[in-house]
Amino acid sequence: MIVLGIETSCDETAAAIVENGTKLLSNITATSSGLHARTGGIIPEEAARKQVESIIPVIDLALNDANIKIKDIDCLAVTSGPGLIGSLLVGVETAKTLSCVWKKPIVPINHLVAHIYANWITQRPHTQPAIHNPPLFPALSLIVSGGHTDMVFVKEHGNLTWISGTRDDAAGEAFDKCARLLGLPYPGGPAISDAADDFLSGHQDVKLTMFPRPMIDSDDFDWSFSGLKTAVLNHVVDLSKNSGLSGEYMKLSDYDALSKEPKLKSLVPKLAAEIQEAIVDSLVIKSMRAVKKYKPKSFILGGGVSANNRLKEKFVNEFEKSGVKTKFYAPDPKMSTDNAAAIAACAFYNNEPVDWRNIFANPGLQIVENK
Ligand code: KG4
Ligand code: ZN
Repeated sequence: MIVLGIETSCDETAAAIVENGTKLLSNITATSSGLHARTGGIIPEEAARKQVESIIPVIDLALNDANIKIKDIDCLAVTSGPGLIGSLLVGVETAKTLSCVWKKPIVPINHLVAHIYANWITQRPHTQPAIHNPPLFPALSLIVSGGHTDMVFVKEHGNLTWISGTRDDAAGEAFDKCARLLGLPYPGGPAISDAADDFLSGHQDVKLTMFPRPMIDSDDFDWSFSGLKTAVLNHVVDLSKNSGLSGEYMKLSDYDALSKEPKLKSLVPKLAAEIQEAIVDSLVIKSMRAVKKYKPKSFILGGGVSANNRLKEKFVNEFEKSGVKTKFYAPDPKMSTDNAAAIAACAFYNNEPVDWRNIFANPGLQIVENK
């Protein structure tokens, strides 16, 4: 089955063609993140305006790149939520129109569930399909993105139970907000990760315990990341005061202070490593406890933060140490962040087409209904 996936939930405009839920035939992503780097975050109207301009060329490119004709497409898949309403509408209305005009079935896809399916996709060239062993069920899946942090138990395709999540900020949001406090660009996750790598390459054995790991002693599997942001803010304000920058920096409108002041700038890599370690530790500690309780066959990571190397490294180490039989999966880094291939893969394994007239953008969609 050939599926054309369309994804426009945030600042990406993406289209991909995937065969039988695993074989990637094309994967096109246009992003307006450069635009938002200037403002330190997404301006929804600007993102949607760019998506209106890009959506048709992006779909065209995906078809050309895969060398697929419209008649070869068996099904359309589109993110219906969650996300920014203006952005979602661009993808949803385009996909509905194509479904009507091309007379193809269409499957509305939950963006958060699709992040799980990034782990099913094999990269082109598809020369050694036997090497790819997709995750087995039952599975536990941790979705860590810019707006969500959710752990779900996946009994089988389409059968998800919500286990836990964040009480406040999402893990990606913590990366983004802390990066801003350090004067690093948006999106903050990759920026913190790069700065942290600079520090870690010369200090592998340094203990990174400066910032709190809230809730790691609670007997649930929940997280809380807003305290980390406050701890980083307080630390940065103290640093600024001690460097005679307090007047400027205390306004907190000048987030660039840290990167402009040479004495403070040199502290950024260490602070980035501390922030990354606090987020990674919280995610890994709570997840490993859940793995011990639920004993899944697979543990599946997904969402933009799953591109983080330190997170994957710590999970791999903890799974090795724990002796559990659970197999750890993380997507190829290109499949971690928002993309349309995961949308198409998700539609293959959850193939429930809906009449295009009954598909609507739903910005507040949860990973599981009534979670
Ligand atoms: O899933 P995603 O691409 O978009 C949403 O659905 O939100 O996730 C974006 C999030 C952002 O917060 C970004 O900073 C974070 O993923 N991210 C990372 C890395 N790459 C992206 N966080 C940590 N390390 C990374 N390498
Ligand atoms: Zn996402």
